Amino acid sequence: MNLDFTSILPSLPYILRGIGVTLQIVALAGLLGFLLGIILSLFKISSIKVLGWLADAYTSIFRGTPLVLQLMIIYFGSPQIFGYQIEPYVAAVLAFGLNSAAYISEIIRAGILAVDKGQSEAAMALGVPYRKMMLNIILPQALKNILPALMNEFITLTKESAIVTTIGVMDIMRRAYQVGADKFRFFEPLLLAGLIYYLMVITLTILGKVVERRMRRGD
Ligand code: ARG
Repeated sequence: MNLDFTSILPSLPYILRGIGVTLQIVALAGLLGFLLGIILSLFKISSIKVLGWLADAYTSIFRGTPLVLQLMIIYFGSPQIFGYQIEPYVAAVLAFGLNSAAYISEIIRAGILAVDKGQSEAAMALGVPYRKMMLNIILPQALKNILPALMNEFITLTKESAIVTTIGVMDIMRRAYQVGADKFRFFEPLLLAGLIYYLMVITLTILGKVVERRMRRGD
């Protein structure tokens, strides 16, 4: 077996620096996806039909086409249409955030529908305005129930973020690949990248469990 981890040891800090890049993209995209996801889910349950159609069309398009294609359209394609320069990093956050919003909106919609009808009926009977009812009564309960599904989405986002390599973002994946090409040894750096992604996912899983337990404490 031809394995030599010592040869990539000097490149270890270089690969590890990719963790910050990956984390930043995932965190910002997750936030964007979550906020947009809430808005889309409210559109979907709205009595104004047009809003529902728009949100459904959005989900259909972003869920129905490959994420790597959306990423490339935003990075390589959109500058041609809008005449701007877009940083790979910004394109990555946009593509992942917009894509994730489609999935998150469905998760939140299901969570809202699962909250007992009596909750909104009671709120309305007490004269609580719609905005307040949603923000203070329905959404907090929905969020508690959908936490595992949301965690799943953030895990997917973390792993899928590796495709930013295709537009030149210096994330974990790209750095590992570069070190491989530089040293003519791919197995060791790629194995290390795999280990880093795995540890990130495990950390997210544990974090999710802790938050879930804390949220259930009041039950
Ligand atoms: N590889 C899938 C695609 O290209 C991943 C989609 C992203 N999934 C997600 N839950 N955000 O469509």
